[in-house]
Formats: sequence, structure tokens, C-alpha cells
Amino acid sequence: LDGFIHDRNGSLGRLYADFDALRDAPAFQEAIRNTGAVVMGRRTFEMGDRDSYAEHYEFQVPIFVLTHSAPQQHPKENDHLKFTFVSDGIESAIAQARRAAGNRDVQVVGGASTIQQALNAALVDELQIDVMPVLLGEGLRFFEHIDTERIKLEKTRVEETTPARTSVTFKVSYG
Ligand SMILES: NC(=O)c1ccc[n+]([C@@H]2O[C@H](COP(=O)([O-])OP(=O)(O)OC[C@H]3O[C@@H](n4cnc5c(N)ncnc54)[C@H](OP(=O)(O)O)[C@@H]3O)[C@@H](O)[C@H]2O)c1
Repeated sequence: LDGFIHDRNGSLGRLYADFDALRDAPAFQEAIRNTGAVVMGRRTFEMGDRDSYAEHYEFQVPIFVLTHSAPQQHPKENDHLKFTFVSDGIESAIAQARRAAGNRDVQVVGGASTIQQALNAALVDELQIDVMPVLLGEGLRFFEHIDTERIKLEKTRVEETTPARTSVTFKVSYG
């Protein structure tokens, strides 16, 4: 609620206390069906065990990781989930993800830096913010370094995705 996407210790625990309910929520299942590729920053990628994505990640689609250098050991993959490490910028990561996604969506799942770059490069059509009834006080701010003059938001959907979680979707346009 106070704009942080992890707490002062880098933990997401309190923001996903409802994870079991979220995973089963129709809106989340719809997002999974509609997603054809994922873009994430290297720090977000490193949050989990690198080799567990192929077995456990919700989005079983090609994943494009923005990084200055690919890991020495390529993470485990399967027929649907393959990793591409992209070091030539957010435009390139999103262009590659769009090709992989075909007529489905590209989800930029985080973190803050990656989403800020996508917003500032005018590459975002839709922004979904989940609000949890939690005050973290300090941590990683989501909306920093944003080109606030150009970016225009129009609210298109509000959903109580779980009893605790409110998901607000905005159409993004650029002035
Ligand atoms: N609340 C949520 O739902 C949620 C969701 C996702 C993430 N998160 C939080 O967000 C945190 C990560 O966010 P973040 O903003 O610190 O990092 P991030 O966006 O996940 O990753 C940043 C890293 O990506 C690489 N990178 C970024 N821009 C690049 C560019 N233009 N060219 C090449 N590489 C680039 C760099 O990695 P190199 O080190 O390889 O240079 C950079 O250190 C996670 O720790 C997690 O706690 C929260």
C-alpha cells in the first residue's frame, strides 16, 4: 500500500501471504493463459533457485532476462520454458519477447528497474498494480525514476483478486 515491492530486508513474504489463493484466482489463471513470454531483470531472476523455473514457475513460456552478463551455467529449461539473457537493452528484450509471444501478451514481471525502463521507453500498454493491505515503511520503491510528464494512465479494471489483494489495471499511453 505504501509503494514498496519488497521490504527493508529484500523480502516479499508479506506481499504474497495470499499466494495459494492468488494462484487459484481466475484473474491469475487468465493472465497465465494470455501470457506468451516473460521479461524480467536479473535481480528478479536471481530471487528464486535458477533451476527451479522449469519445474515450478507459473508462466511456462520463454523468459527473457535483462542482464549485463549471462550466468556461466545456463538454467534448466523444458519444451516451453527457455531462457534468453539479453544484454543490449530493454527495447531488445521486449522485441525478442514479442516475437516469442506471437499473438499472446508479454508480461514484464519486474523488478522495479526493469519496469521503469519499459515505462520510460514507451513500451508498456497496460500496467497492473496489486495492492496488499500491508505497510512496509521502507524497502524498494516501485515508482522512481519515472518520466511522469509523458506517461498517462487510465483505469480500466479493478478486481478483488483474493480477499486481501486488490488488482488495479491501467491502460498506459504516452503524451
Ligand atoms: N512485489 C513483487 O511482485 C515483485 C516482483 C518482482 C520483483 N520484486 C522485487 O524486485 C527486486 C528486483 O528489482 P530491481 O529493480 O532491484 O532489479 P531488476 O529489475 O529485477 O534487475 C535489475 C538488474 O537487471 C539488469 N539490467 C537492468 N537493466 C539493464 C539493462 N538496460 N541492460 C542490461 N542489464 C540490465 C542488471 O543486472 P546485472 O547485474 O546483470 O547487470 C540489473 O542489476 C527483487 O529483489 C524483488 O524483491 C518484487
